[in-house]
Amino acid sequence: MTMPTHVTIVDVGPRDGLQAELEIVDTEIKIELINRLSKAGVPAVEAGAFVSPKWVPQMADATQVLAGIERCPGTRYPVLVPNEKGLERAIASDVKEVAIFGAASESFSHKNINCSIEESFERFRPVAATALAAGMQVRGYISCVLGCPYEGEIAVESVVRVARALDEMGCYEVSLGDTIGVGTPSKARAMIEAVGAVVPADRLALHFHDTFGQALANILACLELGVATVDTAVAGLGGCPYAPGASGNVASEDVVYMLDGMGIETGINLSELVEAGRFISGALNREPNSRAARAILAKTT
Ligand code: HMG
Ligand code: MG
Repeated sequence: MTMPTHVTIVDVGPRDGLQAELEIVDTEIKIELINRLSKAGVPAVEAGAFVSPKWVPQMADATQVLAGIERCPGTRYPVLVPNEKGLERAIASDVKEVAIFGAASESFSHKNINCSIEESFERFRPVAATALAAGMQVRGYISCVLGCPYEGEIAVESVVRVARALDEMGCYEVSLGDTIGVGTPSKARAMIEAVGAVVPADRLALHFHDTFGQALANILACLELGVATVDTAVAGLGGCPYAPGASGNVASEDVVYMLDGMGIETGINLSELVEAGRFISGALNREPNSRAARAILAKTT
C-alpha cells in the first residue's frame, strides 16, 4: 500500500474535546467553534452527543447547538447517540449522521455506557436499523483498541469482534479509538491489519488520543495501510470523562500541517483552522495544545 493522496479529517473537538472540560462551555461558544471549523473547510465536524445529561452534563445542550449552527453544504455534522432515546433526539434536530460507540474492553463498556459489549450490540442494532431506515448515515466507534484504562492490554481479537458487529449493523465506517493514547506505531499497524481483514482499510478511521505523544507517528504508520480518515480535535482538545488520565485527541492543526507538508490533500485552510483553535483556547483561557498552532501563532502575532 502507498500513502493516500487525500485524507478526510473528522474534527471531534466540539464533542470529544468539550465533553471533557470540567467547566461546561457556553452553547454560543460551541456554535461559534463549529461554524469556524466548517468555514475552515473541515469536511466533518462532530457537533455533539445526545447522551444522558446525567452522565455527561457537558453535552446536555446538543439540541440547542444543532439548532444554532450554520450548516454548510458539503460539511457533515455527526453526533453521538448511545441508545434509541439519543437517536430520537438526533432525528428531532434534523441530524443526518449519527455515531454509535462501543468498546473492545468489557470494563470500559460498563463504565462508559453501563452495559457489556454483547448488550451494547443488542442496544445498537435497532438504533442503527432505525437510523438507516430514516436515511441517515451511521458511523461506529470502538474504544480502547490499543489499551484500556481499567484492563491494560486489549486483545486485537476483541477489536476485530466489535468491528465485525458494527459492520454487520450497517456502519459505513468504523473509527478505532486509542482512548488513552498508549499505542505505538507497530502495535497500531498490527491492529489495523487485523481489523482490515474484516472491514476494508478505506472504511476505517483513526481516532488517536495523544496522551503519550505517539499519535502523529501512529497515524503516519497506519496511513501507509490504506486508511484515509483521521479523527482529530482542534487545539488538541479532548479526553473522555470515563477514561481517567486520557488527554486530548491529536491536534487537528498538527495533522493538517503534516499532511500539507507531505502533499496529501485535506481541503482545510490551515490558517483558518489555527484561528478556530485560537478562538476556543481563548475561551478556555489556555494556549492551543498543538505544537504547529503555537509555532504558527508565534510567527504571526
Ligand atoms: P443508564 O443510566 O444505564 O441508562 O445509562 P438509563 O436508560 O437508565 O437512563 C438514565 C437516565 O438518563 C434516565 O433519566 C434516562 O431518561 C436518561 P431519568 O429517568 O433517570 O430521569 N437518558 C437520556 N437522556 C437524554 N438522552 C439520552 C438518554 N439516555 C438515557 N440519549 C447511557 C446508559 C448509555 C444512557 C449512559 O451510560 C450514557 O449516556 N453514556 C454516555 C457516556 C459518554 O458520552 N461518554 C463519552 C463518549 S464516548 C468517548 O468519548 C470515546 C470516543 O471518543 C472514542 C475513543 O476515544 O475511544 C467515542
Ligand atoms: Mg475519543
